[in-house]
Amino acid sequence: MNADASPLSIVILISGRGSNLQSIIDAVTHDKLPVEIRAVISNRPAAAGLQRAAQAGIPTAVIDHSLYSDRAAFDQALQECIERWQPGLVVLAGFMRILTAGFVRHYQGRMLNIHPSLLPDFPGLHTHRQVLESGCKQHGASIHFVTATVDGGPVVLQARIAVQPQDTVTTLAARVLEQEHRLYPLAIRWFAEQRLRLDSSAHAVLDDRVLTEPVIFKKESGELC
Ligand code: GRF
Repeated sequence: MNADASPLSIVILISGRGSNLQSIIDAVTHDKLPVEIRAVISNRPAAAGLQRAAQAGIPTAVIDHSLYSDRAAFDQALQECIERWQPGLVVLAGFMRILTAGFVRHYQGRMLNIHPSLLPDFPGLHTHRQVLESGCKQHGASIHFVTATVDGGPVVLQARIAVQPQDTVTTLAARVLEQEHRLYPLAIRWFAEQRLRLDSSAHAVLDDRVLTEPVIFKKESGELC
């Protein structure tokens, strides 16, 4: 827990639907997740997640990437916007932009991302399709610290699901998403309670132990191993 027990301030970045954002809002409301969501920022003006934030009374902002000439200019505007709220943690929740090295460095150790695959397998886009095409029997979701390599930072927490013979992109996406909604509030809670951090060698550390592999969220029991 924070020494002064004040909630961790966070800013959440989205690009679309915002169901992970909603899971975090719900965890604050119903499960005492000790964070204050100071703002939700989208790079897309039409992102449905902006409505979810507004309904929850959370300030929103749009930094439309299409109005910037290059990634560096966009990231600078984004950083200036984020800094207005002085967050202790930046949460990427379906934020579909590749970030510049300078931006990532600025938030290193205080920026988390969620990715719909068992990283390091299947980084990038269209993970459910990639899994089906590969014939892989396991799939899932990962929470990781963001570092300069896209989807390559140290993985903290994963949930696994079995791929069934009849699965399609749609059915896989739905089952993975269900797990995502459990993972993100938990990882954010660890960070807020100062149990989770990134050390100076860019290793994830949980409860003073370097995570040589991610913690696995057990869907059946809700337990961790
Ligand atoms: C999620 O699958 C997330 O893992 C990926 O983008 C999707 C965002 O969904 N990065 P939502 O906007 O949170 O509903």
